[in-house]
Amino acid sequence: MDRAFVTGATGFVGSTLVDDLLRKGIKVKCAVRKTSSLRWLEGKDVETDLVDLMDPDDIARSMEDCRYVFHLAGTLFAGSEKEYIEGNIRSTAHMVEAALRHRKSIKRFVYVSTIIAAGASSTGKPMTESDDCTPFSWYGKSKFEAEKYILGFKDKLPVTIIRPGAVYGPRDYAMFASFKLSRTGINIILGERNKVGSVIHVQDLAVGISAAALSGKAAGEVYFMAHQKPMRQEEFGETVIRAMGKRPFDVVIPYFLLKIASSLSEMYSRISGSKPILNHQKLLELKEPFIVCSSEKAKRDFGFEASIPLDEGIRSTLQWYRENNWL
Ligand SMILES: NC(=O)c1ccc[n+]([C@@H]2O[C@H](COP(=O)([O-])OP(=O)(O)OC[C@H]3O[C@@H](n4cnc5c(N)ncnc54)[C@H](OP(=O)(O)O)[C@@H]3O)[C@@H](O)[C@H]2O)c1
Repeated sequence: MDRAFVTGATGFVGSTLVDDLLRKGIKVKCAVRKTSSLRWLEGKDVETDLVDLMDPDDIARSMEDCRYVFHLAGTLFAGSEKEYIEGNIRSTAHMVEAALRHRKSIKRFVYVSTIIAAGASSTGKPMTESDDCTPFSWYGKSKFEAEKYILGFKDKLPVTIIRPGAVYGPRDYAMFASFKLSRTGINIILGERNKVGSVIHVQDLAVGISAAALSGKAAGEVYFMAHQKPMRQEEFGETVIRAMGKRPFDVVIPYFLLKIASSLSEMYSRISGSKPILNHQKLLELKEPFIVCSSEKAKRDFGFEASIPLDEGIRSTLQWYRENNWL
């Protein structure tokens, strides 16, 4: 039976993808590092292997018996551009180098990029895959460079790139902050009202990623993946607060305060060695009014359509946080 090699399998999106692959009867080998927490893989019928993504020989050794490669490991929060380059471009180049050594047997190399690699829509019209990419943050630029690197080998390796919108759902720690704040009923609006973003529930994304890997049409292609209905920032918070049985009370935090908070958060992360969830780079993303995309191409090529309505996805995520004592 075909086996999949998954990087980032210990993370939020990767572990949910592993669940979906196992449901589809695909065997899974998870590339982990010494420091990885295996909590989302415990009790699952998966193989784990210590792999150094900075060493193409080590990756090639581990990848040898796998037919599908899913590269999700990446740097989402970092304090310097160098860390994004290391975590997103160098590691990807090594993954490609290793995969090329097994190119006769690899059926698909899937890279999970991000909507931020494309930048933002200037008009509010959802971005499509044929639009020019204008990433504005270190994170977005590094993911876009990784995409370009991979696509440079599309004649030698069957590659597919997925650009998800903002992902939410069980096991997520990034959007969890907004669930935590919502307990007070205060709906924090960062910067200004009416900013719109494309979002996706992690289970819809996992189904979409594996469908792309199995689709012949998706070889050599790039796809956005998000719920068809973009969401206003305040709408997300309102839905969380209402799901908690409270009445939302909006508080807008102006950009100058967010700038101060970013400086403090960067200082704290330098002292403590933690990863800054808010920093000046993330602020660039928060300032964009329309980070919206269309998933029509994925629908056309392999029938992808997000099936979890946003209010239902938020309710079940809240329930998961409660059941797992995060809230
Ligand atoms: N979450 C979102 O909203 C979102 C949206 C769009 C795209 N994405 C993309 O989806 C992918 C997964 O994101 P996520 O939200 O699941 O992040 P996550 O929960 O932080 O997981 C990141 C994963 O990458 C692994 N990793 C990071 N650096 C590594 C390295 N140097 N060597 C080996 N493994 C490394 C981590 O391993 P450890 O467990 O050892 O730390 C972890 O398994 C990323 O590529 C991200 O760009 C995420």
